[in-house]
Amino acid sequence: MTAAVANIAAAASGIRHFLDLSDFEPAVLRGILDHAARMKAGRKGKPKGAVEPDHPAADRILAMIFEKPSTRTRLSFDSAMRQLGGETIVLRADDLQIGRGETVADTARILSANVDAIMMRTGKTKNLLELAANASVPVINGLTDDSHPCQVMADVMTFEEKAGPIRGRKLAWVGDGNNMATSLIHAAVQFGFRLDLACPAELAPEKKVLAWAAERQGQIFVTEDPAAAVSDAACVITDTWVSMGMKDAERRHKILAPYQVNAALIGKAAKDAIFMHCLPAHRGEEVTPEVIDGPRSVVFEEAENRLHVQKAILAWCFGA
Ligand code: CP
Ligand code: NVA
Repeated sequence: MTAAVANIAAAASGIRHFLDLSDFEPAVLRGILDHAARMKAGRKGKPKGAVEPDHPAADRILAMIFEKPSTRTRLSFDSAMRQLGGETIVLRADDLQIGRGETVADTARILSANVDAIMMRTGKTKNLLELAANASVPVINGLTDDSHPCQVMADVMTFEEKAGPIRGRKLAWVGDGNNMATSLIHAAVQFGFRLDLACPAELAPEKKVLAWAAERQGQIFVTEDPAAAVSDAACVITDTWVSMGMKDAERRHKILAPYQVNAALIGKAAKDAIFMHCLPAHRGEEVTPEVIDGPRSVVFEEAENRLHVQKAILAWCFGA
């Protein structure tokens, strides 16, 4: 089952899943960003635990399933639910009976009887889709091997805070054509920006994702030349060379070495270009310290925006 099919099934039953940016009408995503910006503005000077005045998640519980490690996703969803007036339960996959062979479908039914929404981080997209297809509460994608939509919503929010409307702008991705690259391609189509991706041929973005964008006249350009991709870009983005669960670290380091984002490369971008990275970063590998710790870097604002944008995603899932 594709995310689109899971979402069509959910739409029929009125459940609002957040599985992939490609599933949505652009206006829904824009509405989520606008809500995130309003909530962020309203929090100035308030303690982290202060609850939003309208309590959009009052009496609600979010379960978070982690099949892979996380710092930002766990923290930001947990704080997000508290700020919305709700609560969370964190479950590691090996704490669940899934680890002993219980089906994801049965687990979805049990979770649905106990909580009001589920966030899942998994290596297997199939597990996320099976969860969504069998849950009677909203399911949110907290990263799969194929995509990372919550992160890219935070990236779009951060770009617009720093550099103005994203529509019609040129952003550059440099490195592995991985889960982040896929969600950025989805975002480029949905928010109407140009995305140039510089990736080694063997780590190019997935063909079906590029085909999806091409069918929608997306401005997506793939090259093996980092200098060409970043030329005049308003933003340069990269990610780890070895994503969670990948086993071929040595090979990847060799292939990706020419794709390091350093001062010389970012110097080819627009004069006021910003640098983004979803984190965790590996200084001296995909990015040099002078770039990630330098004046163009907005990586910590980007990480903070996970909280604000996920509050708006949760509120949308709850119909608030
Ligand atoms: N960027 C991101 O998703 O970070 P974590 O892996 O720490 O959650
Ligand atoms: N591509 C990275 C993103 C981490 C947030 C990974 O999947 O490990």
